[in-house]
Parts: sequence; C-alpha cells; structure tokens
Amino acid sequence: MRTSQPQTIYLSEYRVPAYLVDTVDLRFELFENGARVHSTLEVRRNPESDAGEVPLELDGDSLILESVALNGAPLGDADFENRGDKLIIGPVPAKFELSVVTWIEPQNNTRLEGLYKSSGMFCSQCEAEGFRCITFFPDRPDVMSRFRTRIEADKGAYPILLSNGNDVDRGDLDDGRHYVIWEDPFPKPCYLFALVAGDLVEKRDTFKTGSGRDIDLRMYVEPRNAEKCDHAMDSLKRSMRWDEEVYGREYDLDIFMIVAVDDFNMGAMENKGLNIFNSSCVLASQETATDLAFQRIEAIVAHEYFHNWSGNRVTCRDWFQLSLKEGFTVFRDSQFSADMGSPTVKRIEDVTLLRTAQFAEDGGPMAHPVRPASYMEISNFYTLTIYEKGAEVVRMIYTLLGPDMFRKGSDLYFERHDGQAVTTDDFVKAMEDASGRDLSQFRLWYEQAGTPVLSVSDEYDSERGIYRLTVEQSVPDTPGQKAKKPQHIPFALGLLGARGESLPLRLEPESQDAPTERVLELTDTCHTFEFHGINERPVPSLLRDFSAPVRVRYSWTREQMLFLMSHDPDGFNRWDAGQRLAVDVIQSLVGAPKDAPVDARLVAAYRQLISDSSLDQALVAKMLQLPSEAYLIELAESADVPAIHKARERVLKHLAIALRSELVACYRRNLEEGAYQVTPDQIARRSLRNTALAWLLQINDEEGRELALRQFKESDNMTDRISALRALVNSDYEADRSEVLTDFYARFQDDPQVVEQWFSVQASSDRAGQLPEIHALLEHKAFDWKNPNKVRSVVGAFAGQNLAAFHNPDGSGYDFLADQVCRLDDSNPQIAARLVTPLTRWRKFAPSYSNRMKAAIERIRDKPDLSRDVYEVVHKSLA
Ligand code: ARG
Ligand code: ZN
Repeated sequence: MRTSQPQTIYLSEYRVPAYLVDTVDLRFELFENGARVHSTLEVRRNPESDAGEVPLELDGDSLILESVALNGAPLGDADFENRGDKLIIGPVPAKFELSVVTWIEPQNNTRLEGLYKSSGMFCSQCEAEGFRCITFFPDRPDVMSRFRTRIEADKGAYPILLSNGNDVDRGDLDDGRHYVIWEDPFPKPCYLFALVAGDLVEKRDTFKTGSGRDIDLRMYVEPRNAEKCDHAMDSLKRSMRWDEEVYGREYDLDIFMIVAVDDFNMGAMENKGLNIFNSSCVLASQETATDLAFQRIEAIVAHEYFHNWSGNRVTCRDWFQLSLKEGFTVFRDSQFSADMGSPTVKRIEDVTLLRTAQFAEDGGPMAHPVRPASYMEISNFYTLTIYEKGAEVVRMIYTLLGPDMFRKGSDLYFERHDGQAVTTDDFVKAMEDASGRDLSQFRLWYEQAGTPVLSVSDEYDSERGIYRLTVEQSVPDTPGQKAKKPQHIPFALGLLGARGESLPLRLEPESQDAPTERVLELTDTCHTFEFHGINERPVPSLLRDFSAPVRVRYSWTREQMLFLMSHDPDGFNRWDAGQRLAVDVIQSLVGAPKDAPVDARLVAAYRQLISDSSLDQALVAKMLQLPSEAYLIELAESADVPAIHKARERVLKHLAIALRSELVACYRRNLEEGAYQVTPDQIARRSLRNTALAWLLQINDEEGRELALRQFKESDNMTDRISALRALVNSDYEADRSEVLTDFYARFQDDPQVVEQWFSVQASSDRAGQLPEIHALLEHKAFDWKNPNKVRSVVGAFAGQNLAAFHNPDGSGYDFLADQVCRLDDSNPQIAARLVTPLTRWRKFAPSYSNRMKAAIERIRDKPDLSRDVYEVVHKSLA
C-alpha cells in the first residue's frame, strides 16, 4: 500500500517513450500457490525520443523479482535498482534483449487487476495499468509490441488455456501438466494482453466476413452456464456484420473469443481476440435475464467488438486520450443499438443516463474534461464524462458533418492511424481533413469541463411576421477551470403552429422551400435568429433529439409542454416535454402541504397516453416513466431527498388512483400472446404491463395484487417474474413480500446473476431496504465481499437507488457507506473508489444533509493507508 502522498500526473508532461519493445515473449507457469512469469523483451532506443542514453525504466506493482538478464547474461544487484513500482536498469545498449522472471500470487489478488483467480479459473484484467502486476514492463499504451505467450498449467484443472491471437502449438508436459502457445500478429499495447486458464466449456460458431474469410467464434464459460451463450453469440455476429456495413470494418484475426468471468471490476474488456466479460454482461436466458439485461448484453458485446478497430487497431497515445477509444466506441455501439431496435427509445435511454449521472458528475467535485489534463489514479477516470459525454461529442461531429462526411472522416482516421497510438486531436483532425470543416472551436468540447447552459428567450413580432429566438450560452466554472470560452454547439430545432403543424424555418425574408427543422450552429456567447413569415406565435421545439449535451433554459408554460407532448414530430422531444411537465408538477409539490392539488392536466395527459393504443407503444412505455428521484435531485438547487421522494410518490399515487381502471385495462391489453421474444414490440408491451402493475400496487389495489401474484408464479421469463417481485416488494403487502422473496431465492439460489438481481430489488426498495435489512443482506450466505457484482447489488444499490433510505436525516446511511468504503479500500480500491461517489456530491444537498455527508467523507479521508484510488476521490471532493 501507499506510503507517501499520491502524485498527480499531467498531460503537459507527456514525453515519448525512451525505449520501445518490439516483441514480448511470455511464459506463464501457473500453480495453486502462485505463478512464475518469464518475460523476454526485444528492446531498442526510440529514435523519436531525445532522452539520450538514459536507463531503462519498467513499471511494476506487487511483483517478486526472481532474476534479470541482459542479452542472456544474468545481472547482479548492482546492475539494476528495484524500487517495487519501478525496475531501473542501466546503462543499456541501443538494442538488446531483456529477460525478467517474476513471481506473482493470483490466488491472493483481490484487487482484480493483473492476473487473478475467479471461481477457480485464472483470468486477467490489464486495462489500464494491470500488466505491471504481471511483470515489469513499460506499461503505457504508446509502447506497442508483438506478443507470444506460452501458458503451462495442470491439464486436469485447467484444460483450457487462452491468450491473444492464434494458438500455434500445444502439448503435454510432465506431472500431468500441459502447455499452449499463442501468437498475436498485431502489435498492441500491454493493456490489451489477456490470459485465461480454466475448466470451461466451449461454444462454437462461425462468421463469414464481407471479403469471404471464415472466422472461428468461440465462447468459454463455466459448464453450468453452457445454455446462456446464444444471445451473446448472436449479438456478436450482428455486431460483426454491422461494423462491415456501416463503418467498412472487417475483423482481422482468424479466431474471436469471449470468456465469462464472475469476479470482474467493470463490464467487459476488449483484449485483442480474447474479450473478457463480467458474467452479468454476457450470460442470458429467458428464465434468468430481463429484457434490460438482453439489451445491455447486446450493446456491450457490440461495444467490445467495435473496440477491435476503435481502440485496438488504432489505440490511445496515453490515458488522457481514453475518450478517443471510449467516446467513439460508445457512439458506435449506440448507433448499433438504435439500428437493432427503436432509435427514439435508445436516444431517450442514453440521454436519461447522461442528464441524470453525467450532468451530476460535470457539476460535482470530480468534474473533468473529456480529455482530462491531469489525474492521480487513471482507474478513477473511467467515467460517464469520458464514455457518455465523449460519445455525445462524437455525435455532435456526426451531426455537424452529416453521415457521409462523417464516414469519410472515420475511414481517413482508421487508414491514417492504423497501428498507431494517437490522440483525440488526431481524431478531430481526420474529421476536419475529410470534410473540409473547421473544428478548431469545436475542440473546446474536449478541453473544457462542465455542462454548457443555453438560456433561450423569444419574442413574436406579429406585425412583421417575425419570430425572434435569442440563445445565450455559458459554461459553468468547474474545479480548476474558470472563465470559459463559448463552445461550438449544434442546436437542432423546429417551430410548431397552433394545430401542431411544422412551420417552414425561413431565416431570410423571401427564402422559399425552407426546411421545417434546422441545426443552428452556436459559436458566440449570444445569437439572435429571426424566422420570417410566421403568422402566429409558434411553440418552439428546442434541442431536438438532444443535439448537444447541454441544459436548455426556456420558460415553457404547462400548456406548451402538453402541446409538445402530443404534437412534436420529434419523438425525443415529445418524451422530453412529458418529462418536463412531470418534473414541474413534482417540483411544485416538494415541501407543499399534504392536500396541495396535483395538476389535473397531468392526469389527463397520462390518461391519453395509456388509453390511446394507436400511439407508438415503445415511446408510450418510456413516457409513462416518471422522472427518477436521481434526476429530480440533479435538477434541485439544494436537495431535500425525503421531501423529493414524498412529492414524487404523491404524484405517482395520485395518477394511479385517478387512472386505476385504465391501468387494469392496459395490463390486460398487453398480456403476452405467443412465445417470449426480445423484440421492441414485446419489450414495450412488457414494460407497459409492468408499469401498470407497479402503480396498482402502490395504491394497495387488490386486483393488482392478485395479478402480481399470478404473474410472479406463472411467468415464463425473468422480466415479468422480477417485475412482479419488485412490485410486491415495494408494496404494503408485507406477508406477500416475504413469501415471494423466499420463493424467488429458493428457485434461483444456484444462479449468481439472478441472486444479484434478488439482492438489488431489496437493497433499492424503501420498503425492504432500510439499514437493518441491508445489514442482514450483507450477512446472507450468498453475499461475498470479494465479488464486485454482489457489492454493487447491495451497497451500490442502497446508496445509488434507495435514495430516501440512504439520505435518512439521522445520517445513518452515510455512516454505513463510509464503513463499507473503508472496508473495501484494502481489498479492492477500484470498487471502493466508485462506491464513494454518492457521498462526494455532498454540496448538492440541503445543509443538514450535506454536513453529515461531509463528515462521513472526512472519516474515510482519515483512514490509515488509504488507496490512491479513494484518496483522489475524497480529497477532490473536500477541496
Ligand atoms: N475498456 C473497457 C471497456 O470500456 C473498460 C476497462 C475498464 N478498466 C478499468 N480499469 N476501469 O470496454
Ligand atoms: Zn470501452
């Protein structure tokens, strides 16, 4: 662990590597009490470096060094210095071979970085800086090498031995051991290295590429999961086809492998030719996975696959450029998901996440640009800003250039930089060069943190028929960044006439054939646009399809919101108008007297939505979801969570009572016919039906209760079963609650992915997830502190989703979280640092809450031997 204060690393201090490594030859001897790693590197001085004849510095972490040899000659203690985190060797020749032998203990590795064991198998996670936990190496993405990997292990316990590339040789050894040798022809940074050894079943399929090559597709899972691979395999094939069709990118190796691992810090990892997944992000069956899980798996399989080009063939120069691969790849996977399902629904889901969580990050103490200028621990920068805002930035380039120029730009980017480690600036440059557009001001999106605010005002000049729209932009201060410049913002809009018709947008008085939708480009602090030939005051539909990741301020009346809700031709803005109306109604009831009325127009609007089956049901399913507590908190100035919770619950119950018969009818109308399928239409039906059920149980409706109990017992899929479970758990029917929970556990106790869902239904429920019950879950025999999914499903769900309980005015929720963070800090700092997030937002809350939150953070700060991960987060949040 740490002994001194963690250092800050700056982008401005980037220097090209002094030495390059052309080839890496690895030999792993895997044993139960540890592993010996023999590494032989072909090293040469980097001709592009002006560092001169400096010693060679290799990174290391938790390694036991056994020997070092240079050009075959063993080195003595005087020839190198082992500082633990650095191995310094020198002077060295301009070109040489270096051999290093290290001993590591995967079986004791609870950080899940480097090589570790999960349910009896060996597996690895090297991004960002895990390779240094395996052997001494220049662990930075701009050192790219060809890898050859020999794995040796007991043949009975580890019949499957995998690494990147192609398997070129295998054979038996003494003592029941065997070996396999893998060669990856593509030079890669060490963060893309992977190793797996275990007793796994293999699922095979094939894919024929556009140019006619046959690719061997293989999934490796534990035997009990053999029947949960089909969906991921199908998703993989769809992704491969899509990337050929939409981006012209073909797969490049002969084998593509996917492995499922139960203990995994993140979702998945794009290791070259050998993607490793968190089991919960890849395994699915109708009986055990929800619609949401099916969709998530498809998206993550696609994401990791797409990295083969946006990440692996063209990689990052340094970790400040992380969004180069993540932002672009998230954009690509969101386009893919939109093409596979409903584009509007996908957009709504992405924007919901962005506005709820990324905006909160951008307004909090960890706010950072899409291309950060500094960090202490890079693991803390796998953030919503890098991923989601980064994807929005790429999306804006797409909007500004149009699909054809964007494709030209991406072709140029891949062609120009294939095999290189590059920067976000190189990406933008390729887009500029291909399109001829000037994106110099646009680059501020990568440099300035914070969510821009657009304040919109309008006036209508009836005499001259001119509608004038004024848009002012400002970018708020963020830690370390003040007085920001205006950014280049694509602002899509339309204007609606009184009967809901789209008006032509004439920017010049006499222009003909004007379009009814325009993407205006904002570049100055203030713009005024004049629309001519407007015969009545229009209703503006602003920021259509959420054309930029900004906040829009405009004083919509409730009448205008209702109007847009039913007339806006932009599906996203229709949904958004409904959200805005619901937010407005809920906000007006926060802290209001119990009997304050709920706007009858909201009820009428929802009645219309539920009853009109001619509407797009997928959109209706989304529109019926009230804005989440987390979003309401994000919008609040000084949040009083229990008050927000009460106001939201009050509106929900009011709607449920007023619309009771419509809800029952909606439930019955959407009862499934035919076999379960994960299609947009069926997903919408299940969502509508289960929303109706959840609302009915909020008002103790007996008919709803019976429907829920029947659905719980009889459903043939997890979406319906767990929705019924959740509805009952969140109801006042206490006896039913404990009965269905017991029943559910008994049925699924052998399936970790389902047990995780069972934990999280309880931990996120204000009925079943108060602190004493949370403590009981932590004591449950299925709970495991070493498994990140379990920690997330109890501790994470409590602090992130059970907001009224977490923000208990007595501060007990905060103390609880602080305790768990301290406990996890020693075993898994990455997970500990992520769990702290809700506390770091303490400034957002009303004083009586924020004081207690701050005290809890300070308690974490004072823990001895705090990891660098948690250190960075708590210190920044207190600064
Ligand atoms: N590159 C992976 C992905 O987005 C995530 C790796 C995360 N690793 C980490 N240490 N946070 O697909
Ligand atoms: Zn990624």
